[in-house]
Amino acid sequence: MRLKKELESTLQSAHPVLNEASLDLLRAGGKRIRPILVLLSARFGDRGRPEVKKAAVTLELIHMASLVHDDVTDDAELRRGKATVKAKWDNRVAMFTGDYIFAKAIELISEFDNPNAHLLISRTIRDLSLGEIEQIKDLYNWKQNLRRYLLRIKRKTAILMALSCQLGALAAGCDDQLARKLYYYGYFLGMSYQITDDILDFVGTEKQLGKPAGSDLRQGNITLPTLFALKNPELRGALIGVLEAEQPDEKAWRAAVSAVRTSGGIEQSEALSDRYLQKAKRILDDLPEPKTTRPLAMIADYIGRRKY
Ligand code: IPE
Ligand code: IPE
Ligand code: MG
Ligand code: MG
Ligand code: MG
Repeated sequence: MRLKKELESTLQSAHPVLNEASLDLLRAGGKRIRPILVLLSARFGDRGRPEVKKAAVTLELIHMASLVHDDVTDDAELRRGKATVKAKWDNRVAMFTGDYIFAKAIELISEFDNPNAHLLISRTIRDLSLGEIEQIKDLYNWKQNLRRYLLRIKRKTAILMALSCQLGALAAGCDDQLARKLYYYGYFLGMSYQITDDILDFVGTEKQLGKPAGSDLRQGNITLPTLFALKNPELRGALIGVLEAEQPDEKAWRAAVSAVRTSGGIEQSEALSDRYLQKAKRILDDLPEPKTTRPLAMIADYIGRRKY
């Protein structure tokens, strides 16, 4: 399937700003992990069904809309190596570009003759919003525990990947039980995916990532590497000091980021990410055809090694 072409024609708008803003983001690229998950999961059934293609396009659209809004909340200037909608225009344009892309996703899925699919999609968008808003509430809250972090990334990232797999299977006519198993594979994969994203924010470069690195902590977003670093008695006091300071200077932020980098928190986060990938692979062991599960296992390996 020519996914990019499908996405392009879906996003075409008579309004020049909506057209440019959404197509810019599309043409900037991206890894397209979610539609890939849809298509690979659909191989367990009849992948030639027209619903499969629609599900793949829908999932990338939901993801894109969430990115446009996410860059407003995170005040990000760069995405996929290009200026974000909020940077090129402003927050108001980003708000409606995100809504526009969401609406396009819903329009497409309304052609999908399965009311359950509509419900699954709405709940995922609902939970994604919950995850993002909880993150805002928890900014600078160094007292939050691991459970809170895991619930947040489940909502903001993992369940969209879970849904990609589940919907791919359902669109291809697989039974609910198989779709449910693939849901869990996508969920574990998504947990690892966001943990890696949070690690890369500390160890990656802007050039590699195509988006600003080192900004989570500065914005008060306490992610897994920081949570582990806060458990280190030698660093805890200093980190809390920076997170509680009125307006820490550049030097203080740099010291805090570098403290997290060398705290052992990165390695501990990598270990947890690996555990999720193992769980994802274990689900695959339970599925019928090795020929169909192999590409999904390869995706898990890719995600474990990704640097961008
Ligand atoms: C970025 O997602 C947001 C997260 C959930 C970590 P991706 O890393 O899939 O972004 P693109 O689509 O490849 O740009
Ligand atoms: C991704 O979280 C969550 C959503 C896109 C909903 P991030 O804020 O970490 O994603 P990036 O790092 O900006 O891609
Ligand atoms: Mg964010
Ligand atoms: Mg962000
Ligand atoms: Mg991030």
